[in-house]
Amino acid sequence: MSDCIIAASILSADFARLGEEVDNVLAAGADWVHFDVMDNHYVPNLTIGPMVCEALRKHGVSAPIDVHLMIEPVDRIVPDFAKAGASLISFHPEASRHVHRTIQLIKSHGCRAGLVLNPATPVDILDWALPDLDLVLLMSVNPGFGGQAFIASALDKLRMVRDMIDRSGWPVRLEIDGGVKVGNIGEIAAAGADTFVAGSAIFGAKDYAKVVAAMRREVAAVKQTPA
Ligand code: DX5
Ligand code: ZN
Repeated sequence: MSDCIIAASILSADFARLGEEVDNVLAAGADWVHFDVMDNHYVPNLTIGPMVCEALRKHGVSAPIDVHLMIEPVDRIVPDFAKAGASLISFHPEASRHVHRTIQLIKSHGCRAGLVLNPATPVDILDWALPDLDLVLLMSVNPGFGGQAFIASALDKLRMVRDMIDRSGWPVRLEIDGGVKVGNIGEIAAAGADTFVAGSAIFGAKDYAKVVAAMRREVAAVKQTPA
């Protein structure tokens, strides 16, 4: 499993120039496009849907599109996102009545499946879901908005889930979302994350490549320090 994936959250991009912004952030070294879908129901904000995902694919984006669904219900829209070119689809267990069924639905449409845990959501749901998952996404802010501060308890949760994944032996990625910056990505990596969502930290900067490179340096420095 590759060590460090940077998933640029386009929530903080300039939506009037979205195709160009995505091209630029990928050219700057980001690995995945993190695509935040909000419905003004599960979360108090409204963003983008499958049409925009499809438009990015038609624009020529070939990098993985990491769809983070903050919507309720989940199942109805899953096939639409698969058709629109999503690579991974993650959802919140609180938003689906039948979590196992939703995971299977995502996979049956040829996408990788992720489960997202909010800051106050316990990790127990993973006991029975982990073998079916490709990704666990831990929220380090309450979902709904970019630019919020990292909630420190997410570090303990990362350590806990890292341990669960390692003990399981399954190749599940551990992604963190919210408040990730150059200044804290090192301790986040040390706590066990291997996939890092960053929105405002990248798109709020003038030089995207500089931020992505600095993030990778911080993560690499942690990897070289023996535990
Ligand atoms: C929040 C979204 C995040 C958000 C992160 O609900 O899921 O992906 O864009 O933004 P930053 O990196 O600015 O905290
Ligand atoms: Zn997100």
